[in-house]
Amino acid sequence: MEGPRGATPADTTFLKELVGHVFRPTLFEEYPQLFNDDNLGNCRIILEGGKPVSHIGMTLQDATILGCHLRVACIGGVATHPDHRGKGYATRLFEDAGEVAYRDGVDFMMVSGDRSLYRRAGCRRIGLDYETTVTNEQATEFSDSSIDVKNVDASAIPIIAGLYALEPVRFLRKREDYERAFACSFVMNRPSDFLLISRNDHPCAYVILQRPREKGIIGNFAEISGDRSAVLGACATIMERYQMSGVHFHIGGWDILTQGLCKQAGLSCSETHASGTVRIIHFRQMMEHMRPYMEQKLGSQQVNALSFEGDDANGYKICFGDEMMHVPDRGELAHLLFGTREETVADRLAEGGKVAELMRQMLPFPAMWYGINYV
Ligand SMILES: CC(C)(COP(=O)(O)OP(=O)(O)OC[C@H]1O[C@@H](n2cnc3c(N)ncnc32)[C@H](O)[C@@H]1OP(=O)(O)O)[C@@H](O)C(=O)NCCC(=O)NCCS
Repeated sequence: MEGPRGATPADTTFLKELVGHVFRPTLFEEYPQLFNDDNLGNCRIILEGGKPVSHIGMTLQDATILGCHLRVACIGGVATHPDHRGKGYATRLFEDAGEVAYRDGVDFMMVSGDRSLYRRAGCRRIGLDYETTVTNEQATEFSDSSIDVKNVDASAIPIIAGLYALEPVRFLRKREDYERAFACSFVMNRPSDFLLISRNDHPCAYVILQRPREKGIIGNFAEISGDRSAVLGACATIMERYQMSGVHFHIGGWDILTQGLCKQAGLSCSETHASGTVRIIHFRQMMEHMRPYMEQKLGSQQVNALSFEGDDANGYKICFGDEMMHVPDRGELAHLLFGTREETVADRLAEGGKVAELMRQMLPFPAMWYGINYV
């Protein structure tokens, strides 16, 4: 057995074979954000007989949550060859990916799945988010004649990137992230189209539509940016173009504007989580990075008196003067910081005392949505 280590160009043929065998033959090409020369070292592998038999893919990028600068790792392409399962390889690789992420300065990790492998490492479903579905009837009602919808290719990257850059909770994407997404047109694990929405000839929003598998079904926007009222106004045109019976999309728990718009439009929003699961990588650093957000909620005096520390062995502590909230493990920490709709062992926010009171005012932190960053 060799590894864990990062993949090198010499490993790509067998790595492609491994993920092709475990998932589908085209997976390697469908996940260019993961499988590109610049990122190969973050594709962590264990080898036997010189060939990768287990793999965990990771991308590392910057993000902003309401102006706070964070570093986020995304995990995907998790695969062990059927002949080598149950030997602890994926567990070892997941630990290794966490160590690499920590060394790279990552605050938290997004994992595109939910299973015991991830839960044992402290991954949890998080985010007090919503989702909604626009029906054909509703779309016709919202239809706006000043709105035009155009299928666009990579030549629209400057406009698409410009609109995404206005989102308050987003990845700090590089041009190549867009180029890869347009080149493979796979977004959140499905073949997708980029649709630019203009009002009176002025681009104001875009959606990334996962191409419906057949006519007459409900489609899904994998990503939305820009003016949401224009998105609603464009739904009828999009549904007609793709012959869909409705369209479904995700709304961040922090996005009170879209929630308000949906309410006004009579769309019912149901409660959901963000996609996949989240693992906190570096608690103290993450809280430091979220400081501007905390100061906005609590004022700088109270934030100055807060301290954050801890590890897996001793649990995590949030202290204010001589008061302390103790969070026993990373899983609960993810639940506490980002909020959750899962059954939790303990509701720390319901505790008495000053720390719980401050955390109630401050939390949850907004959860991130993948869009083209999905791996
Ligand atoms: C998921 C997968 C990568 C696991 O690979 P593996 O190398 O066999 O993993 P490990 O040997 O480290 O662990 C195997 C299982 O035992 C569990 N396990 C390992 N050590 C354990 C322990 N000490 N206590 C309890 N459970 C333990 C792991 O959590 C894992 O459970 P899960 O598969 O239900 O999540 C592999 O089954 C696979 O390739 N599956 C198909 C692709 C896939 O589904 N990928 C994940 C997409 S989200």
